[in-house]
Amino acid sequence: MTTATDPDRDPNRIIVFDTTLRDGEQSPGFSMNLEEKLRMADALEDLGVDIIEAGFAIASPGDFEAVNEIAKRIQGAVVCSLARAGRDDIMRAGEALKPARRSRIHTFIATSPLHMKVKLQLSPEQVLEATSAAVSLARQYTDDVEWSAEDGSRSEPDFLCRAVEAAIKAGATTINIPDTVGYAVPEEYGAIFTMLMNRVPGAEKVVFSAHCHNDLGLAVANTLAAIKAGVRQVECTINGIGERAGNAALEEIVMALRTRHDVMPYRNEVQTTNIVKTSKLLATITGFSVQPNKAIVGRNAFAHEAGIHQDGVLKNAATYEIMTPESVGWPRSSLVMGKHSGRHAFKDKLKALGYELGDNAINDAFRRFKRLADAKKVVFDEDIVALVDDEVMRANDTIQFVSLEVWAGSKGPQRAILELDVDGEVKRAEATGDGPVDATFKAIRAIYPHEAELKLYSVGAVTEGTDAQAQVTVRLEEAGKMVDGQGADTDTLVASARAYVHALNKLLVKRLRTEPAAMAAGSAD
Ligand code: KIV
Ligand code: ZN
Repeated sequence: MTTATDPDRDPNRIIVFDTTLRDGEQSPGFSMNLEEKLRMADALEDLGVDIIEAGFAIASPGDFEAVNEIAKRIQGAVVCSLARAGRDDIMRAGEALKPARRSRIHTFIATSPLHMKVKLQLSPEQVLEATSAAVSLARQYTDDVEWSAEDGSRSEPDFLCRAVEAAIKAGATTINIPDTVGYAVPEEYGAIFTMLMNRVPGAEKVVFSAHCHNDLGLAVANTLAAIKAGVRQVECTINGIGERAGNAALEEIVMALRTRHDVMPYRNEVQTTNIVKTSKLLATITGFSVQPNKAIVGRNAFAHEAGIHQDGVLKNAATYEIMTPESVGWPRSSLVMGKHSGRHAFKDKLKALGYELGDNAINDAFRRFKRLADAKKVVFDEDIVALVDDEVMRANDTIQFVSLEVWAGSKGPQRAILELDVDGEVKRAEATGDGPVDATFKAIRAIYPHEAELKLYSVGAVTEGTDAQAQVTVRLEEAGKMVDGQGADTDTLVASARAYVHALNKLLVKRLRTEPAAMAAGSAD
């Protein structure tokens, strides 16, 4: 990526600024621990984003540490920290970013009449002074300073011009005009940038940036309108996570630009084949799965259910697909499998889904596929991925799920009888609990005692319908180590037991890596 003032800068190059770890992470339920943020930062770097907004350094010691650790490890992307327009904020951001190869301080202050009066209780003149002071101080830490006019889309045009001018004079290299409350419509949002570019002295020296929230479902449309008006940085998040209705979704912006290059001839460095992987990692880490019909990364984004569509796609995928599933990292969507599908077709399907399994593993997977096909009318690619990940890929785990019987319902007490294979020996436990899930988890603890705390339990469906497989995520924490386990089954309780056992196995691997002596976890008998 070249800088704003670089005379060789490609005028059609779009800078992708990812704020999943800042604006995305600050929304309710999406907080991540340090290890998870580092995993996401690595994935974002692999994805090819230009800038990773790693956090808000002053917000908490945890935020500072995350920005600092991400700054240490990221080699290619610019690492950025958010800072309000105050001395302490900027110094904290500067300090956290010290180890970065390339750093950016992103300082912001509200410029709309409402925010200045009610929230900041500052006069417009005071906001201008704070803007100049903040940007000048930030420039003492790095040459790469972004200034944002919070609630910019609802600001008075004349005042916005004066504020942008002050920021540019003080040394800002990127000017961001957020649609903080997702209020703008595309023409209007684009026109704000046209006005600024025409009226503000020095505008030609900086990169303008769009930052759109999705309260009216217009975040991506507004971002594209801003690009059309001359904006060359887009701020976005994976899966569109973020405050309230979220931020503009990275995958949607990038694929819109790629798919409609004929009308939007811009380029960026995102490796689109890593999109689905990154989306899934975020969903796994946060425990929030993506809505099925979400563009690009929803599980139905490339599914063709109607016979007429399936027929068209078989003849020529372009009939109903405007981009290929492979181009964003999905295995090719293909024919649905059912109980009449043979071993050969199943083997071909596994290969197409990217699994190279030995004969024994294929036999195990095929047996489970047949059971699933008996329980479900149609088996989708996602079902096969879930069952292979769930069982076959875990064949070497220390603890394996064997069987579960549950007594549930309103009469209680809920009871579970569970069998697990622990190191080749089948063990059995019976437990009662506050509901069948609690009883099942208690039975696991009885068979394999451990100190880990349950931090998250979330249930989703692999596909639609009441016969869909449940996909359960279980998060366990032990001595500061956090692991997520997944389990899938048409029976939600079996999926829950599998997810818990998966998390436990991951914890054992973690213990083994860091504290070999702690491996000897006791067993019930
Ligand atoms: O939405 C917004 O205004 C923001 C700023 C802090 C950039 O996230
Ligand atoms: Zn925002």
